[in-house]
Amino acid sequence: MLPRTNPTQTNVWQNLKNHQTELSAQHMRDWFLNDPMRFNEFSLQVEGILFDFSKNIITPKTLKLLNNLFDECGLPEAIKAQFEGQKINETENRAVLHTALRNFDAQSIKVDGVDVMPAIQALRSKMKSFSQSIIDGKWKGYSGKSIKNIVNIGIGGSSLGPSMVYDALSHYRVNGIHCHFVSNIDAAHLLGKVENLDPQTTLFIIASKTFTTQETMTNAQSAKEWFLQNGGHEKDVSKHFVAVSTNKDAVQNFGIDPENMFGFWDWVGGRYSLWSPIGLSLCCGLGYDNFEKLLRGAHAMDKHFASADFHQNAPMLMAAIGIWYTNFWNSDTEAIIPYSQNMHRFATYFQQANMESNGKSVDRNGEKVNYQTGPIIWGQPGTNGQHAFFQLIHQGTKLIPCDFIGFTKSNYDKPAHHLQLMSNFFAQTEALMKGKTKDELESENINANLIPYKTFEGNNPTTSILAPKLTPENLGKLLACYEHKIFTQGVIWNIFSFDQWGVELGKSLAKSILPKLSDNSSLNTYDTSTAGLVDFFRKHQ
Ligand code: F6P
Repeated sequence: MLPRTNPTQTNVWQNLKNHQTELSAQHMRDWFLNDPMRFNEFSLQVEGILFDFSKNIITPKTLKLLNNLFDECGLPEAIKAQFEGQKINETENRAVLHTALRNFDAQSIKVDGVDVMPAIQALRSKMKSFSQSIIDGKWKGYSGKSIKNIVNIGIGGSSLGPSMVYDALSHYRVNGIHCHFVSNIDAAHLLGKVENLDPQTTLFIIASKTFTTQETMTNAQSAKEWFLQNGGHEKDVSKHFVAVSTNKDAVQNFGIDPENMFGFWDWVGGRYSLWSPIGLSLCCGLGYDNFEKLLRGAHAMDKHFASADFHQNAPMLMAAIGIWYTNFWNSDTEAIIPYSQNMHRFATYFQQANMESNGKSVDRNGEKVNYQTGPIIWGQPGTNGQHAFFQLIHQGTKLIPCDFIGFTKSNYDKPAHHLQLMSNFFAQTEALMKGKTKDELESENINANLIPYKTFEGNNPTTSILAPKLTPENLGKLLACYEHKIFTQGVIWNIFSFDQWGVELGKSLAKSILPKLSDNSSLNTYDTSTAGLVDFFRKHQ
């Protein structure tokens, strides 16, 4: 069981509010001027990655109070409960053990008294040998040719993670194997991907935890039709379709041989399933060893999170600072801005992980919350973002805390590009913090009429995360860090982070509307807007 503390009822909540009032008239620029140790005091290195929190509106007192909040809300007990395999996803009566999937230590991890590690190890071996047979060319398609293209069909957590990592680690791709990701039920997605593929050399991975998701099932069916209409036969399906799921019966009903199924467990949440066989496309496209390095990187961060003291704990500090802005500074959104084109889907990935996990308004007592919970997560890579939305961050009316993520070494032999890229990273975080004052503009002889427009208030918070290189290990560390941030915030907000009832209503209504789109039955049970839209759709098909 997770604790059930309303954070606003803690002793420290009011202190944090008062403290915010204290700081609201202060400016980070002055803190840096007056305290040469500020960077040292508010930055730390974890597993070779530098986390610089110093450009946030925080003082030592802020962190002390947030640490007290975490203790009062029972964070240490909650972490123990998660890592031990207690059923902390209480509304679904499930443990939350994606951390076990990337555990390489000897200790056992039990669910309902059974150690899950031997089954995980067996699954890793199966993923390794399957992906090796694809890479070696030993797995043959129906005409005897080796597989060249892998199409992962899945949506949400069964797509976003693998596709994000595949792009992020494009430097580690196996020659001659190409991965593609199809998620949208819009036929444009599937047809756009298969149009240049040869069924003889294409393998579909149908990735769905439940194996009932409408988009995935429809796309999988259409992929099978494409395969059968372009040279494949029913008897060949087993050579070209494999499944990743927890639902063996549904996989069998679809026509996939259970031998070709990679199973996993209900204690792996959809948006935390990258580490499970949902990552199978990555094993094929990047090689199993790189996939394992990703897991090992995440495992190192898991150990850090579970053992480090609050003041040295990167995920906890990220969570604490997020709560500080969300609950005490009324910020609504957070931007994640990787200075890496290959990480262009990182923010999208964490949009789901964060917003599906902590987009909740009922607490663990079943009561409506009277405080803000999960922020809106968004972002895109620098420097593109600078030419799109940075204006609003610099001079708009909203407080938008940003994470800047960068790498000291590039994977590409173009040093001039990397130096320019990173000079922008450093310049932007500096500008957001410092701003530009009227006095500074006057000393530059700026036309007086323009001074109000050219003034930057600054004091915009950023966290800078600098890793040595975009490698599988470092990416694993970063991913686990953000996952633990989400978990920590959910504990403090007293919500259940691992269910997603909010996506169910739309799914079931879509099922009931579907037949109405192609018949003429009455629409008078619908509201007038829905009825009007469906009517227009019917008439203009
Ligand atoms: O959007 C809801 C959701 O259940 C996500 O949590 C999940 O990642 C996605 O749908 C896909 O689910 P499945 O893997 O069962 O097809």
